[in-house]
Amino acid sequence: MKFFIDTANLNDIAEAQALGVLDGVTTNPSLMAKEGISGAENILAHYQKICDLVEGDVSAEVISTDFEGMVKEGEALAALHPQIVVKLPMIADGVKACKYFSDKGIRTNVTLVFSAGQALLAAKAGATYVSPFLGRLDDISTDGLNLIHEIRTIYDNYGFQTQILAASIRNTMHVINCAKLGSDVMTGPLSSITGLLKHPLTDSGLAKFLEDYNKSNQ
Ligand code: G3P
Repeated sequence: MKFFIDTANLNDIAEAQALGVLDGVTTNPSLMAKEGISGAENILAHYQKICDLVEGDVSAEVISTDFEGMVKEGEALAALHPQIVVKLPMIADGVKACKYFSDKGIRTNVTLVFSAGQALLAAKAGATYVSPFLGRLDDISTDGLNLIHEIRTIYDNYGFQTQILAASIRNTMHVINCAKLGSDVMTGPLSSITGLLKHPLTDSGLAKFLEDYNKSNQ
């Protein structure tokens, strides 16, 4: 299972990278705005900084909603760095753009996916990644994890190579349940990764080991 961090915050990205378990980064316009990054040039420069920090895939989202605009933006993003994956919204023009980029060998991440049918379309269009939003489905009292299960079943039935990138991950249980269901990737905040470290028995066990070592090595 690949671990992506879902942020545009360079400190969080560096911390996850230093842990040695990071496989990539996902961003979106809201996350860029949260870091105060605006203007096309600044946004491209920020993507470059992210690519310099990590070794894996970096999803960079287009803001156009028409096919021509998405192609223009996506080509500029893809040309910026080989690690860039063009992130496209799950709308008709996004599906067309996904097919266009797929035919050109440019990797894509189809985002804002909330149903199995949308995930099927993304796979048919040759998406590298599909991003079902678990947390936002949970927010409206719908079972986000069930969507991961449905997509896994459909993709396995037909051998689709599109990777399931579980997004809108909010906590460590989302990560663990996505792993159980066979999600290829998860993307979440730093806390969803570092939270996996925590167990009180690890802390108390380590304290006891060190206490016993110190007693017998005085
Ligand atoms: O990757 C998609 C993600 O950024 C959405 O997360 O927490 O805003 O629903 P959230």
